[in-house]
Amino acid sequence: MTASQVDPRVSQTLHPTGLRRPSGTEPHRPLAIVARNVGMVYQAGGEEFQALSHINLEVPEGSIQLLMGPSGSGKTTLLSILAGILTPSSGSVHLLGQEITHLSRHRLSQFRLHNIGFIFQGFNLFPALTALENVELAFQVKGINRRDAREQSLMLLDQVGLADKTRSFPKQLSGGQKQRVAIARALAGDPSLIMADEPTAALDSQSGHAVIELLRNLAKERDRTVLMVTHDSRIMDVADRVLHLEDGMLKAA
Ligand SMILES: Nc1ncnc2c1ncn2[C@@H]1O[C@H](COP(=O)(O)OP(=O)(O)OP(=O)(O)O)[C@@H](O)[C@H]1O
Ligand SMILES: [Mg+2]
Repeated sequence: MTASQVDPRVSQTLHPTGLRRPSGTEPHRPLAIVARNVGMVYQAGGEEFQALSHINLEVPEGSIQLLMGPSGSGKTTLLSILAGILTPSSGSVHLLGQEITHLSRHRLSQFRLHNIGFIFQGFNLFPALTALENVELAFQVKGINRRDAREQSLMLLDQVGLADKTRSFPKQLSGGQKQRVAIARALAGDPSLIMADEPTAALDSQSGHAVIELLRNLAKERDRTVLMVTHDSRIMDVADRVLHLEDGMLKAA
């Protein structure tokens, strides 16, 4: 083969972002998340606090990656930056081939809405809405009609084991049940990226297992990418990689 007859598959090793993937990774797996030299400095009471330094990360589509580390090591900060909720002080983030750190607020929120399901550490449910309405709202803001929103919300609540709690308000639910409503809501509209901050922390072992199984199926059968902060050693069995954060820096596993 001459230089002008380059096998077209070779060019596919270049991701749409133009970033060359490292050797040794699966050649046909596009990268869902790429962080380049990300740093985060918080300003608090006139003081600066370096929460993250020199974060470099590549996450292939269809993988489950865990983010672990001590309290205060920067896990929520990093997850929020990778989800476009926080803007880093330095560095860049590409999601699904799109550079997000320079998008306008409007385009960024549209991007998040259509591509990312985020499960927050504190659930963030609307107290005045029932479990079903909390999930339905997530469909409605994505422009999905009421009928489909209801049908798919009921299906998701059933998948997380809450078919009998659809009419309950958050204050009538246990911590683990609230967490499962938050998970159902994050999965509304079938986002490509699922980012979760301790999604199984408040769950008993049975419902924790159901949630892990759900996330595993999404990654392995539907090619969704899952990045989650966890202390849950059960999840380590299904993870493709465990990332360790210490003092705002990623440590080699
Ligand atoms: N808005 C903020 N302003 C100033 N400092 C902050 C802010 N948010 C977080 N920090 C600091 O940044 C560091 C990282 O916080 P972060 O919430 O990312 O930690 P974490 O690893 O998620 O911890 P945990 O396991 O307790 O949830 C902590 O020292 C925290 O005090
Ligand atoms: Mg946290």
